[in-house]
Amino acid sequence: MKILLVCTKQRFGNKPSCGGRGSEVLADTLAHQITMRGLADRLVVQRFPCLGSCEEGPNVRITGGALFHHVCTEQLEQILRCALDDAASEQQDD
Ligand code: FES
Repeated sequence: MKILLVCTKQRFGNKPSCGGRGSEVLADTLAHQITMRGLADRLVVQRFPCLGSCEEGPNVRITGGALFHHVCTEQLEQILRCALDDAASEQQDD
């Protein structure tokens, strides 16, 4: 099982935050895609308070794998494919 950590931290004022850059929509879209494609046995979305790269958000991390910066909806397909590849590699190692 791979977890897609989506930072949804919301800051107010001039401080940067992934939540302030639309990451809630990204988290919802990823979760929807996972459900619609029947991938819920391999992938899950988890909202996360901060991934430590606030200036480069929205940020998404695949547990044990890549950290994606400046994520937009067009990039979600690439992130899903990467997470599926990681999940497949993990299964082969078991
Ligand atoms: S606010 Fe998203 S990484 Fe810190």
